[in-house]
Formats: sequence, structure tokens, C-alpha cells
Amino acid sequence: MSIDTLDNDTTRLEQLWARDFGNAYVERNREAWVDRGPFWQDVAQRYPFASALEIGCNVGGNLKWLAGCDRQIDLTGIDVNGQALEELRSKLPQVTTLQTPGRDLPFADGSFGLTFTMGVLIHVSPESLSDVMSEIVRCSKRFVLCGEYFAEQTVEVPYRGHEGALYKRNFGQLYAEQFPELSLLETGFLPKGEGFDDVTFWIFEKDQG
Ligand SMILES: C[S@@+](CC[C@H](N)C(=O)[O-])C[C@H]1O[C@@H](n2cnc3c(N)ncnc32)[C@H](O)[C@@H]1O
Repeated sequence: MSIDTLDNDTTRLEQLWARDFGNAYVERNREAWVDRGPFWQDVAQRYPFASALEIGCNVGGNLKWLAGCDRQIDLTGIDVNGQALEELRSKLPQVTTLQTPGRDLPFADGSFGLTFTMGVLIHVSPESLSDVMSEIVRCSKRFVLCGEYFAEQTVEVPYRGHEGALYKRNFGQLYAEQFPELSLLETGFLPKGEGFDDVTFWIFEKDQG
């Protein structure tokens, strides 16, 4: 379903990010990626994926590091914001980009060795969160990485003057509960000052059986 044919909370948030609010985020965060190298180099070294899909990739602050690591990784980024994708394409033309919401990924099952989000599920409407996570797991052949703001109990936090635009959750637990085919490999915390703004991450492996 396209962004414009839905009329609900899911569309409200997707359109917020697709339009002026999302464009302003692009303007503010062009340099947000500069300190993220060590994390992504470490992930790429320890997990043997040959392709990766980032859901909500913005201007490529994560994909940039995967593009620059020692081995070649086929990279794809999707986002609802067209300006972000345009900037990503001009910086990293080797990355395949697509403007589409995370709840509707036009890729075959198991298309990517790694699928991941960084600071994106927190901005997904509660009514479509489960669908977005299902799509992320479906498109992964092996690894799923989730990096998001953590809270033990779900808490909504006003975000830049908007209600219902940011939810901290125990995303690791949600993945584990919803997808029994996932095993947790590791979890960790990326503090402010390492380019990630107090993000908790989980890395899962999909049952290969
Ligand atoms: C806070 S930014 C994080 C950007 C990037 N992942 C990073 O770590 O720098 C959230 C991004 O997710 C995108 N986004 C928000 N909701 C989305 C959705 N439902 N589907 C796809 N992208 C979405 C926004 O347009 C924005 O680029």
C-alpha cells in the first residue's frame, strides 16, 4: 500500500518523516555519523554477512561505514524521506535505495544477510510496529540488528513538539517474543559521544534449519 492511501496513525508518522519534519532532520544530522565507525567495523568483522538492508537509512550514517569496511558488502537502504535518499545516492552511489515504508518491503524472503534499524522503530506507530518488525525478520537470511532507545516498560516521549512520535520500548524483548526463530547473539549500549545517542542494540540470528 502506498503512503498516501492509508488514513491512520501509521500514515501520520510516515508522512511526518516524508515531508518537512523529515527534511529538517536531514539538515540537522548531516554529520551525525562521524563517530560510528568503530561500532560498524566491529560488527562487520565479527558477523559474516555479504549483503545488508537498512530500514530508515536517512543519509547513510550507518551504511557509509559498511561501505568502507574491508570486504565488499552489497548495501540497500530504504526510507520514507526522499531528500535523505537523494543525498545518500550522491554520497554513496553503490548503495541501492528505495523510498518505501518499513511495513512494506518489496524484497523476497531472506534477501539480505543482515537487516537492521538504528533509531527508527522508536518512530513507528504502535499499530504498525509488529508489521515493520515482521518485514525486517522476513527479509533477513541470517542476522537482524536492532539499535533503538530502550525502556523496560513502553514509554511515549514528546519529540520536537509532536505527541505520538517517539516510543521507547524493550525492542529486544519484543523481537524475542514475536519471533521464536530468532536467537539473541549479543546486546550492548552505545553511549552519547560514540555517535549513537544512548542507543541499546541487540543482534539476533535467524534459525538456519
Ligand atoms: C532518527 S532517523 C535515523 C536515521 C538512521 N537510521 C541513523 O541511524 O542515522 C529515522 C529515519 O527513519 C525514517 N523513517 C521513519 N519512519 C519510517 C518508516 N515507517 N519506514 C521507513 N523509514 C522510516 C526517517 O525518515 C528517518 O530517516
